[in-house]
Amino acid sequence: MSDSKFAPRVFSGIQPSGGLTLGNYLGALKKFVTMQNDGIEAIYCMVDLHAITVWQDPEDLRKNTRELAAFFIASGLDPQKSILFNQSQVPEHAQLGWVFNTVARMGWLNRMTQFKDKAGKNKEKVSVGLFSYPTLMAADILLYHATHVPVGDDQKQHLELTRDIAIKFNHDYKVDFFPVIEPVIEGPATRVMSLRDGSKKMSKSDPSDLSRINMSDDADMIAKKLRKAKTDPDALPSEAAGLNDRPEAKNLVSIYAALAETSVDAVLSDVGGKQFSEFKPMLVDLAVEKLSPISGEMSRLMEDTAEIDRVLAQGATRARAIASPILDKTYDIMGLVRS
Ligand code: AMP
Ligand code: TRP
Repeated sequence: MSDSKFAPRVFSGIQPSGGLTLGNYLGALKKFVTMQNDGIEAIYCMVDLHAITVWQDPEDLRKNTRELAAFFIASGLDPQKSILFNQSQVPEHAQLGWVFNTVARMGWLNRMTQFKDKAGKNKEKVSVGLFSYPTLMAADILLYHATHVPVGDDQKQHLELTRDIAIKFNHDYKVDFFPVIEPVIEGPATRVMSLRDGSKKMSKSDPSDLSRINMSDDADMIAKKLRKAKTDPDALPSEAAGLNDRPEAKNLVSIYAALAETSVDAVLSDVGGKQFSEFKPMLVDLAVEKLSPISGEMSRLMEDTAEIDRVLAQGATRARAIASPILDKTYDIMGLVRS
């Protein structure tokens, strides 16, 4: 199929399951803001229907959805330019998700590593929704004929499944209807690692709070965590290749590069030869400068939840205006009678 048929449109989603980290900021939000500022039409979704594939306390879910919306806005997403909304306010997501449950094959979903990780030994006890999670994700994206999907590196397999669903639908119904999307997984911090163990992803679910920077951490806490971050005894190299086999050093330099909006090589050409005792204070200053205004703004926005709800409702109306005709057309292609 030709790429030119679909105008560039960005879609991405984040689960409102609480505990936003620097990984979410650098791996997702910061890229979203750059894309918005490049002028591409963009739709960002708080995927609450994905969050409930594992248990969510209702009060926490409400709070986390609003907090995530505050995080988007505080990070620089403009709800007038981009569309910001929560998934459950646009019923077409669940509707197209069902359709894609009939397109995707059991074997495809059986291969999803995120399901295997999340289900662990508990395969028989997890929700059916957790298993079919990727079909809803494909629906999120294809419902808008989105072409570009910025995500962290852990979502690559789900995006490949989205491509497979689009290809199978187009093939089965002999149409060129759903775009075959492009993942956008790039930049120095596609995978921000734990501050305590450079081989593990920074995650809100790590039992050690010292392993991550939370977007709610204040300046003192950010400084403390970075000072305690694991390193190695060697000086920093002057080129990126010198960071191979030094996961903790690589992680801290990548975080610096992402916050400074530059490349790892550019950072190393400045700091190559320095010890961590010199580099860490530079990282602390930069992280505090870039991150504390965001947490301050989030707290301010959370004081007026009615305003956040208004933004989400307005976003949902705009999202539906795009989604509804695409769902109608999908049903029509499949022979589902519409009157
Ligand atoms: P999650 O909070 O896991 O639902 O992730 C939301 C978004 O943040 C997704 O695009 C993830 O790929 C991204 N993300 C989460 N943690 C990290 C991390 N440690 N490094 C890079 N991106 C991340
Ligand atoms: N699965 C994604 C995550 O855990 C969240 C998500 C849901 C998403 N729907 C999406 C991301 C659509 C990109 C596009 O991070």
